Amino acid sequence: MVDFEHSGSAGRAQPPRQLPVPVQLALSEDAWIDVIQRMDEVYADLVRYQVDLEDKNVALEDAQRFIESVLSAMSDVLLVAGVDGRIQQVNNALLRLLGTTREALIGRRLADLFGSASIDVATGLPLAVRHAAILDCELELVTDAGVAVPIALNCTARLDSDGTLSGVVITGRPLGELRQAYSALRDAHDKLKTAQQQLLQSEKMASLGRLVAGVAHELNNPISFVFANMHSLRRYGTRLQTYLNALHSGADSAALAQARHTLRIDETLADLDPLIDGSLEGAQRVSEIVQNLRRYATPQRQSADAVALGKVVRSSLSWVERGLRRKPRVSLALDDALEVWNYEGHLQQILINLIQNAVDAMDGIDDAHLEISAQADGGGACVCVRDHGPGIAEADLIRIFDPFFTTEEVGKGTGLGLYVSYGLATEQCGGSLQARNHPQGGAEFTLNLPQRVGHV
Ligand SMILES: Nc1ncnc2c1ncn2[C@@H]1O[C@H](COP(=O)(O)OP(=O)(O)OP(=O)(O)O)[C@@H](O)[C@H]1O
Ligand SMILES: [Mg+2]
Repeated sequence: MVDFEHSGSAGRAQPPRQLPVPVQLALSEDAWIDVIQRMDEVYADLVRYQVDLEDKNVALEDAQRFIESVLSAMSDVLLVAGVDGRIQQVNNALLRLLGTTREALIGRRLADLFGSASIDVATGLPLAVRHAAILDCELELVTDAGVAVPIALNCTARLDSDGTLSGVVITGRPLGELRQAYSALRDAHDKLKTAQQQLLQSEKMASLGRLVAGVAHELNNPISFVFANMHSLRRYGTRLQTYLNALHSGADSAALAQARHTLRIDETLADLDPLIDGSLEGAQRVSEIVQNLRRYATPQRQSADAVALGKVVRSSLSWVERGLRRKPRVSLALDDALEVWNYEGHLQQILINLIQNAVDAMDGIDDAHLEISAQADGGGACVCVRDHGPGIAEADLIRIFDPFFTTEEVGKGTGLGLYVSYGLATEQCGGSLQARNHPQGGAEFTLNLPQRVGHV
């Protein structure tokens, strides 16, 4: 670089010392000053140009370094060729892939880098991009060692500042990597599918387990009731047999009257019908549950029927009351004409669970009071079961319908009653079941039913 020496001001500049004598004589002092001033201006301009040039050089070097760092950081290969098809620029990724040097590539024909199957396409690339970019074009590059590497290329035109085509820019990625990524993706997808199937299977097993537990729970009530009745019937049978034996052995009327009184024959006879009715109802209940189980096990469809809700409420209540030593005070507000088209067995099962829970919640309360209403509501019906117990703890409200949630002591409640009831109300009966604490105390469960359930 030329180093210009700035003379500073006109006062410090020295006139040239070797001017020929005749010229020296011809120049006046003013002319000398003028010349010196002009030289000063030229020097000042030169210094400015030099500073500008140095700044631009620095900026150019920065830009160059930036472009080089980007090119060498790229993992995709990059290749720039002119319209004549000669290589102008490449990046490190391409050099690594081909196992060659930059010097060996610059100026070579682009087509020379490709395998025989790709030469024609590669030769036409610099002109083909004139009309449109070429995307995802699969060609084969050949490495220095002669190995063909399939590569997915994108080719775009490089234009001058005036918009004329000056070459082609090619970027690409070896297909091996893509294929590897694709096969890794497929493996991950397969694993995910297997995991999903296992999850589905274990969920099925879990719900089967819950179903079996629910069925066992629901069967337990009627079966123990039938058992108890059968024991009573056997006792009654023995009494009647004893009385008949006394009758046939010719005992006198006083002895017979005494035996009749002692054996409580009249009470026994009066108790026979309710016992048999109760046992029949229990057997009926068991048969319904078995039918439900069969419906779960096989896809056969159960048909809905017209159900008198008042009747179902009364029968459910009597079911629960039979197992109680102390009955609660019950207020019923039932519309006896109210009918819905639904599954009577399911509705009874739900109501028995709700009433049993209400009674359980009021266990030990002196004035246990149960209120049940069944009324028309919108297009359907609404059954409310409200107790005057302690209500449900706020934190428990969101989980009382979860399977196995119970606050009963171990061995008493299974925590399936509400879970099963909720499933029946929503999935089978097409309705909803909600729980809340009544503002005046106690818990209130509301069963909403449509006028007509769709087939399940
Ligand atoms: N009327 C109610 N008042 C207060 N808590 C209730 C009432 N009904 C249900 N719960 C709460 O919800 C829990 C779950 O009830 P759910 O009927 O599902 O099971 P459970 O009654 O405990 O046992 P089971 O499986 O024998 O019915 C109960 O343990 C109780 O804590
Ligand atoms: Mg319960």
